[in-house]
Amino acid sequence: MKYKAIIFDLDGVICFTDEYHFLAWQALAKKLGITNFTREDNAKQRGVSRMESLEVVLAKSDKKYTYEEKVELANYKNSLYVKMLQNMNESDLSNEVKSTLTELKNRGIKIAIGSSSKNAPLILNRLGILNLFDGISDGNNITKSKPNPEVFLKAAQFISVEPKECYVVEDAIAGIDAALAGGFTSVAIGDATKHSGAHYKISSFSELLNLPF
Ligand code: BG6
Ligand code: MG
Repeated sequence: MKYKAIIFDLDGVICFTDEYHFLAWQALAKKLGITNFTREDNAKQRGVSRMESLEVVLAKSDKKYTYEEKVELANYKNSLYVKMLQNMNESDLSNEVKSTLTELKNRGIKIAIGSSSKNAPLILNRLGILNLFDGISDGNNITKSKPNPEVFLKAAQFISVEPKECYVVEDAIAGIDAALAGGFTSVAIGDATKHSGAHYKISSFSELLNLPF
């Protein structure tokens, strides 16, 4: 078997929390008097760290903020976001994602998370799948965010596989760049399907079962 594992991004791949990120950043933008924060702006935040995502919002304003003020703004956005996460439970995991992950595990494929989010364990816990994954690499164990491949390289290490034995599934352009930089085989879903360099493009999560292993 050439491929032994799949590393999954979380927000926008396993679950719809990418939408909560959008809503929380949009609310922060509004508070700062930025009324033209769009989904195109939000696409640039996919896969990148909280502080880098904040810069996407602040680029829409002429006002300059100190580092301390930026930390405060990022904390405010995170408090809005975490409040939205409190409503999530096991019913927010789609049947398609659940049954696909179960089938992959039944086939002996290792599964891991490679997410830039520091809230990844909280979300996985709320969805009831924290223990389903063989390894979790997230915003808490990295120093460089996507498009740097660190988060995926760490995930591969955690589950003892080589990048060339691994698929990476991503909804972010920066995530596909990170997968390619790390020597992984990339699978794009959602927004990332715009990336011309992705190895595979899927329109539905269960299509992962058709990949060659
Ligand atoms: C990524 C999202 O998964 O996590 C980004 O795509 C987000 O938009 C990043 O900025 C960091 O998330 P968090 O939860 O640590 O603020
Ligand atoms: Mg994502």
